[in-house]
Amino acid sequence: MLPLKAAAVKNMHAPPEALLARLPAEYRTVLAQAASLAASQAARLWLVGGVVRDLLCEAPLGRDVDLAVEGDALALARDLATRIGGRLRAVHAAFGTASVDVQVAGGSTVTFDLAGSRVERYRSPGALPEVAPAPIEDDLYRRDFSVNALAIELRAMNGQLSAGQLLDPFGGRGDLVTGRLRLLHEESLRDDPTRMLRGVRLAARLGLQPDPATAAQIQRALEASYLSLVSDERILTELCLSLEEPRPDETLRLADAWGLTPRVLPGLAWSEALADRCARLAQAPGDAPTGGPLVRAGLLLYDLDAAAQAAIAARYPLPAEAADLLRQLPGLRAVASLLTPDLPNSAVDRLLRPFSVAAVTVLHYAEPATAALTGRYLRELRAMRAPLNGNDLQRLGIAPGPLLGQTLEALRAATLDGRVSTREQAEAWVRQHVMDGPR
Ligand code: CTP
Repeated sequence: MLPLKAAAVKNMHAPPEALLARLPAEYRTVLAQAASLAASQAARLWLVGGVVRDLLCEAPLGRDVDLAVEGDALALARDLATRIGGRLRAVHAAFGTASVDVQVAGGSTVTFDLAGSRVERYRSPGALPEVAPAPIEDDLYRRDFSVNALAIELRAMNGQLSAGQLLDPFGGRGDLVTGRLRLLHEESLRDDPTRMLRGVRLAARLGLQPDPATAAQIQRALEASYLSLVSDERILTELCLSLEEPRPDETLRLADAWGLTPRVLPGLAWSEALADRCARLAQAPGDAPTGGPLVRAGLLLYDLDAAAQAAIAARYPLPAEAADLLRQLPGLRAVASLLTPDLPNSAVDRLLRPFSVAAVTVLHYAEPATAALTGRYLRELRAMRAPLNGNDLQRLGIAPGPLLGQTLEALRAATLDGRVSTREQAEAWVRQHVMDGPR
């Protein structure tokens, strides 16, 4: 499959100046400041990696902008943060890296990651690298794939951003056009086995196929079990990045084909049902329940058997909300069969309330037969309150204790079923059902 639209293929020959023009104005302002500071420090500044790739193929830009500095990256990051009022963080003197967070319109944050251009040396497979300063050409060579080994030199002219040369030493642009995923050297996956997980994500996103040498290297890395040398925490970070993709099922499909899935998520496999669940979420209309990475994780794992789910929970340091969702999945599947269209609202609410919003959203997209009910629960029922609260009931003469709690529950059920809607009706309901009735 050719991954790129015709317009994007034309972009492959666009001059670097035209590519930079595609950046949002706020990014350009920050980059112009960075380029002018770099010039004053006699450093060269390069836009590198994923942003250049995304500019070339007209893909949406991420929230991270990677910059390589031939010079002192830490000094540049500090000066940039001061000049633009950004937040300096993640300063790693040993690695020569730092990040500057900048608030942009709409209140979101863009992170500019600055790193001194370097070579990396890996002492053993999967170990963290030792780094040494090096020219940009060497910095590009230490990267993962040809389509990521791209750089545009940034300059400032009269306070405006302008482009120097575009470096594409490994034919990344050509690979984007022909849909090829290509590692740069023989030892790449031995150095950093997580690149297999990065590769599968990138290939799924851009519709790339490993070239024969890359496919062979993946095979060798799997046979040598290089992934088992990487911490589960690092693997989890990569898996979470896949959940940022709108269609993580596509990544899973490729991961199965490459033989990766059993190494990282044993028991999980792509299926049509799984893809349909993910498609329903990705194509949901604007007024439908929404879900991010957590819900996408739930949709992937929804019908995984209990032992495999437990193995995932035991292996990975999952964030609390993900561990919680995983625990809820078996109960969620059981509840699906109890949701029938004739149920009153109060019964729907009673069945679904024990589950988190994320879990019910998973159910919504996993079980289209009951989507009307789960949709109604998420949109309306969950937030509905009885007209009286605990204080009101105490004023009516019900003492704090179990009866008060039961009354609140019963009153809420009456409200959900439309038997009560005003305060007056609620008070009458309480008098009739609780105060005048048997206690
Ligand atoms: N990189 C690498 N090997 C890694 C991680 C990163 O070579 N294990 C290089 C690649 O050149 C990559 C760049 O560092 O493009 C930035 O990494 P990152 O921000 O993680 O990825 P992006 O390519 O920007 O991809 P995404 O769009 O998924 O954020």
